[in-house]
Formats: sequence, C-alpha cells, structure tokens
Amino acid sequence: MGDVIEAGAASAKRAVVTGASSGIGAASVRALVKAGWTVVALARREAKLKALVEEVGPAASYVVCDLTDEASTQAAVERVLAGGPVKALVNCAGAAFGKDPVATASLDDWRGMYELNVIGTLRITQKLLPGLKRAPGGGTVLVISSTAGIEPYEGGAGYCASKFAERVMARVLRLEQIGEPLRVIDIAPGMVETDEFSLKRFGGDAQRAAAVYAGVPSPLKAEDIAECVTWALGQPDTVDIDQIVVRPRAEGSYTKVYRER
Ligand SMILES: NC(=O)c1ccc[n+]([C@@H]2O[C@H](COP(=O)([O-])OP(=O)(O)OC[C@H]3O[C@@H](n4cnc5c(N)ncnc54)[C@H](OP(=O)(O)O)[C@@H]3O)[C@@H](O)[C@H]2O)c1
Repeated sequence: MGDVIEAGAASAKRAVVTGASSGIGAASVRALVKAGWTVVALARREAKLKALVEEVGPAASYVVCDLTDEASTQAAVERVLAGGPVKALVNCAGAAFGKDPVATASLDDWRGMYELNVIGTLRITQKLLPGLKRAPGGGTVLVISSTAGIEPYEGGAGYCASKFAERVMARVLRLEQIGEPLRVIDIAPGMVETDEFSLKRFGGDAQRAAAVYAGVPSPLKAEDIAECVTWALGQPDTVDIDQIVVRPRAEGSYTKVYRER
C-alpha cells in the first residue's frame, strides 16, 4: 500500500478527509491546510493523492484507502493513527451511480451507492470515533451529505435513499453522543459542479454530465463547500453546526432550477 505519513509532529488540528482525490474532498484538503490544519487525504487513486499532497505541501499527507473494503480501511486507519491523534473526520467520499427509475434501476448501482455512501461512511466513522473523542477539546465527525437526502427526485431513488441514510446516521450519532466531547456536522450541498461526479453517475457520458449544469448561472464550486467545511470546523469546540444546506442561488430545489438558454 502506498502512503505518506507526515514527518513532523502532528498538529492539534489534524483532520482526515475521505474522497480527497477529487472534487469537494480535494478542495477541502486545500482549504483546511490554508486554515492551519494538518490533513491526511484518503481515497483509492494514489497518483491523484500524491499530486495533491505535493501541491499543498508538508501539512498534507495521504493514505490510500478503499472505504468499501474492511481490510483496506482498517489498515488505513492504523496508518493514520500511527501519525498522531485525529481531531476531525470529514466524510466526503461518495457517489451517485445511474439515474434510472425504481422500476428498472440496477441492483448493482444501488448496492454500490449503499456500500460507499452509507456503509463506507459508517465503517471509517466507527473506527475513528474513539480517537476523535480523545482529541484535546473534543473531536468532530462531519459528513458531506446532499440535498438529495432532504428531497427525493425521480430517477434518484437509490442515491437519495443512500443520502437520506447518511443524514440519519449523522443525526442519530449526534443524539447518541450528547454529553460526549464530539460534534457531528452535516453539510448538505445542492448542485456543485465538480469534474467527476456527474460523469461517474452517467457512466462516463460527458454530454449527459454536462447537461446537468447547462445554462445554470454559477453552480456551486467545490471550493464553496470547502469553505463551509473549514468554517464549521473552525467554530469553538462547544459550538456544533448541526446542519448546513447550501445551494447555488439559481437552484430552489432539484426540480426548480433556473437555466439561461
Ligand atoms: N457534486 C455535487 O453536485 C454534489 C452535491 C451534493 C453532495 N455531493 C456529495 O459530495 C461528495 C463529493 O462529491 P464530488 O462532487 O466531490 O465527487 P467526486 O469528485 O466524484 O469525488 C468522490 C470522491 O470519493 C472517492 N471514492 C469513491 N469511491 C471510493 C471508495 N470506494 N473508497 C474511498 N474513496 C472513494 C473518490 O476517489 P477515488 O476514486 O480515488 O477513490 C473521490 O475522491 C459525495 O459524497 C457526493 O455525494 C456532491
């Protein structure tokens, strides 16, 4: 397994960001380092993680990790903890596969979304939870869920169901941990134009992916969500930003989007 553990002493503000090889996760690594955090970036694609860490500098490191694989995640968590304590876990890894109606949707697509968005998030959260709670001042579990976890839309049942589940997981964890030194933050973005998300959803069909954002004046960028992540984590340890719902101005809901023709 390729990985890089930081050489220097771990900072008290040390975060793990999953899904860090692209999009919102990569932007969050950049923003958190700028805000003074030490960050460990997790994802499967080593070349992308390596390039990000080289760009960001010594405050960032990476560990290769497949969150759908128990052994890979366990090994990654051990490598992370060997580098020092962790104060924040940013659960950004996630995906949508397909946009088919319930009547005909692929079981494998649904299974893939559940394995990553729900079980993968649960798996790494469980493994890091004890250490997060031991962090000086307390720790934070943050999830990047989605407005798909608030309002379902046609063709989105599988993705929406997985994001509803992710939001419920965060909410219930928050309730269960009251009195413990733990914050649980749920950031639910609407339309964010990232390079890969829609492309993966539509199996590499660039035309279908581009149509998602066509004519929308200023969809959100990954950096906008990274700003929310950095701001929420930067609040005092005793201030829990329970939920943030953030959309582009042009999007009122998934089905109410203004497009310039
Ligand atoms: N873009 C949007 O409009 C939008 C809106 C609301 C919410 N979100 C949510 O925001 C999060 C990030 O989205 P994004 O737009 O930044 O998408 P993205 O660029 O496709 O990023 C997804 C990340 O997840 C990682 N990943 C995928 N499978 C993995 C696995 N098995 N194990 C570990 N990591 C894995 C990917 O890295 P590797 O392939 O290298 O593993 C990648 O870094 C997702 O949870 C998504 O549901 C996105």
